[in-house]
Amino acid sequence: MSLSLGARIKAQVDDWARFSSEEGQLTRTFLSPEHAQVVEAVIAAMTDAGMSARLDAIGNVVGRYEAETPGAPALLTGSHVDTVRDAGPYDGNLGVALPIACIAELHARGKRLPFAVEVIAFGDEEGVRFPTTLSGSHAIAGTFDPAVLTVTDADGVTLKQALRDFGCQPDNIPAEARRRADVNGFIEVHIKQGPVLEREDLPVGIVTAISGASRFRIVVDGMAGHAGTVPMGARQDALAGAAEMVLAIERHAGSNPALVATVGRMTVEPGAINVIPGRADFSLDIRAPENALLRESIAAVQHELRAIAERRQLSVVLEEQYMQEAVTCDPRLTQTLVDSVTRCGHRARRLPSGAGHDAMAVAALCPMAMLFVRCGGGISHNPGETVTAEDVDAAARVFLDFLEALPASKD
Ligand code: GLV
Ligand code: MN
Ligand code: MN
Repeated sequence: MSLSLGARIKAQVDDWARFSSEEGQLTRTFLSPEHAQVVEAVIAAMTDAGMSARLDAIGNVVGRYEAETPGAPALLTGSHVDTVRDAGPYDGNLGVALPIACIAELHARGKRLPFAVEVIAFGDEEGVRFPTTLSGSHAIAGTFDPAVLTVTDADGVTLKQALRDFGCQPDNIPAEARRRADVNGFIEVHIKQGPVLEREDLPVGIVTAISGASRFRIVVDGMAGHAGTVPMGARQDALAGAAEMVLAIERHAGSNPALVATVGRMTVEPGAINVIPGRADFSLDIRAPENALLRESIAAVQHELRAIAERRQLSVVLEEQYMQEAVTCDPRLTQTLVDSVTRCGHRARRLPSGAGHDAMAVAALCPMAMLFVRCGGGISHNPGETVTAEDVDAAARVFLDFLEALPASKD
């Protein structure tokens, strides 16, 4: 018995999960050797699907399935192939494998569309290696900031050098920006990463908007000292101050159901059992569905952290490393997707996205829509991430219907 389209897509993504820097878990950061391996596999899959494929100047793989009329504007689609540490296989990768498999279906039928389809495997959505993110989608949208090329990873390698080592030509990044006239729109397929679809027993959902997100590096300085001799009242313990700050952040975000804030990383110096911590260096990721709320929250958190530092005779520096405003999905493109979901026999459930996606950056270029696929327990950024072949099949059928229903141009 031949496998369903959904089962084949799932098997493809499961296969890509072997490209990892860690034995027994999935970790694949931007421009790593494992990223190079997945690039090769994606190019092979695109080529088999009848597409031309190339690695671009910012580490994206761009595959193109030509239109009935060569050179016609393209519908862009795709998602990311980088992962968090100890990730699940489907975050991002599903949104690359699924459209390639759908194009392969069209190719097998000898069918061309009135527009080209470009599938993009973005390399940098998770922001794990460098203190920046969405660089691939910003380059496509024409909003890439060249200053970002100087940021460094934990080993001091600049983004520019890492790109060169990967075989990319960072000087050509501006040329990757698409002209609006060459693009019809962008659609991203992605796992839901939350429990709503599962709770309502739906295989797919339609995204209305994506929350804005801001990321900070926060450095708290106090004074290192002897753990046995400095009285408690005379300490400037950077870690104790940072701990109070983390709880203040949690309290602030907990005061409004629309807000989320996470401290996901902290290092302590000098980091010895018998030394009072002189420095704590931690991350903050804060998100809200509305830009005004996000800005107000950032200001409130900054104020609170400075007050804690002052009371404890510490210094605190907050460095904003990234800011991505909330975006709304395009009503017309979204309606086409709603119609496809309905035609395929599912209730068209609309829902917002708390997670960030490449679609947020591409929205600056063209109309954008997103299709969510149910994932088990809503679990993501966790090796326990799962999808079923049936749900992936349902999403692929919706995607194919969408491709065939979409008019030749945006107008
Ligand atoms: C990406 O997964 C993000 O939302 O941080
Ligand atoms: Mn993710
Ligand atoms: Mn993702």
